[in-house]
Amino acid sequence: MTILIREAVENDVEGIARVHVQGWRESYKDFLSPEALAGLSVEERMQMWQGSFRQPNPRARLLVAETDEGEIVGFARGAPVRRGEGSDWLDAEAEIAAIYLLDEVKRRGIGRRLMRGVLDHLAAQGFRSVGLWVLKDNLPARRFYEALGGTAGAEQSFDLRGQMVVEVAYRFELTPLL
Ligand SMILES: CC(C)(COP(=O)(O)OP(=O)(O)OC[C@H]1O[C@@H](n2cnc3c(N)ncnc32)[C@H](O)[C@@H]1OP(=O)(O)O)[C@@H](O)C(=O)NCCC(=O)NCCS
Repeated sequence: MTILIREAVENDVEGIARVHVQGWRESYKDFLSPEALAGLSVEERMQMWQGSFRQPNPRARLLVAETDEGEIVGFARGAPVRRGEGSDWLDAEAEIAAIYLLDEVKRRGIGRRLMRGVLDHLAAQGFRSVGLWVLKDNLPARRFYEALGGTAGAEQSFDLRGQMVVEVAYRFELTPLL
């Protein structure tokens, strides 16, 4: 299977929302309650992702991973850090707001390609550091961020769909593109 990494377009909203929901269900089943996972809705996620096309931010980047049959199997978004939305304590100028792959395509270097594409864009926009929050128990993702050069920092408790979870911040230093 060949996987293409490309810039997302508005038509991808449904595929992104589907991966978002299925990705949570597959990857978070050990961390979140069955009720929280059952309550996820593709419709709700579509509305959320639609918003990023309604108010496009040229400094942000949303990439999708697509199979040669046109199926979206992963995506990642990087953007200036959000203020006042729980990200205040991320000690970074930009953030990885989301990165999700379906189980069937994990561990083939696609996450690395998505991150590279997003980080390169953020560096080109002049950001010098990128942060993100990851569930403390999400060891596969933490090993991934560490393999890519991220360093762990602050922790915070967070109410995720009615469940208290602990998250760890990771930070990446970006080299300015001259
Ligand atoms: C985290 C995620 C994006 C990684 O993407 P991926 O395509 O599977 O990872 P890659 O194949 O690019 O891996 C790159 C390197 O990261 C490390 N890595 C990736 N997955 C790992 C795992 N499960 N265990 C240990 N190390 C891992 C390895 O060093 C790997 O290099 P290698 O395969 O040559 O050993 C993907 O697993 C995912 O979508 N997970 C579920 C959603 C999620 O948790 N997102 C993070 C939310 S904050």
